[in-house]
Amino acid sequence: MTRQFDGDKLVVASHNKGKVKEITELLAPFGVTAVSAGDLGLAEPEETGTTFEANAKIKALAAARGANLPALADDSGLCVDALGGEPGVYSARWGGESKNFNLAMEKLQEALSKARAYDARDRGAHFACALCLAWPDGHTETFVGKVEGKIVYPPRGNRGFGYDPMFVAEDMTKTFAEIDPAEKHAISHRARAFQGLIKACFSGREG
Ligand code: IMP
Repeated sequence: MTRQFDGDKLVVASHNKGKVKEITELLAPFGVTAVSAGDLGLAEPEETGTTFEANAKIKALAAARGANLPALADDSGLCVDALGGEPGVYSARWGGESKNFNLAMEKLQEALSKARAYDARDRGAHFACALCLAWPDGHTETFVGKVEGKIVYPPRGNRGFGYDPMFVAEDMTKTFAEIDPAEKHAISHRARAFQGLIKACFSGREG
């Protein structure tokens, strides 16, 4: 049976400020105080999984046990069709040690050129997200979401984070970095996984 979240505080198991901000905003209507793993000084576990679900579980369990509180982890990334799904679970790592996403976006453009994916029709991609809610006793609940779109170059916009300036969602013309955060929250991979989480684990607490 799906376990309900009945507390009022949880750890966001991430050190990524962009993600922590988005998850905190998504949680706000549910009367939940979010504290980040970074602020608690928790170590970042090694992401040894080969799927978003596996890595989300590793991070959520590490934070839940480390903080002795329920913890919510997000593992997400950009999967590009012409690159066989890359960078996928390695999306953060394409930014190098310093997590430089200008570098990662240039690398992406180079990889697409090498794959001769020049036209919009060859530039299909999706963002995927797995959210895992874990409790200190080891119980976990996992939810996934994705948003289809395409890669554009050069990058446009200065909102959002990561690969947002190069991603235009289906039926849109602006990148995720050009639109209002509320617009991104309405359709993003993270928002879709979040809807599954809320429906299953936060029933009766809706905004
Ligand atoms: P993770 O911390 O291993 O899950 O890293 C996910 C990486 O995927 C991030 O560092 C970003 O580069 C990328 N990513 C995930 N979600 C988004 C998003 O909503 N916008 C832009 N990039 C994203």
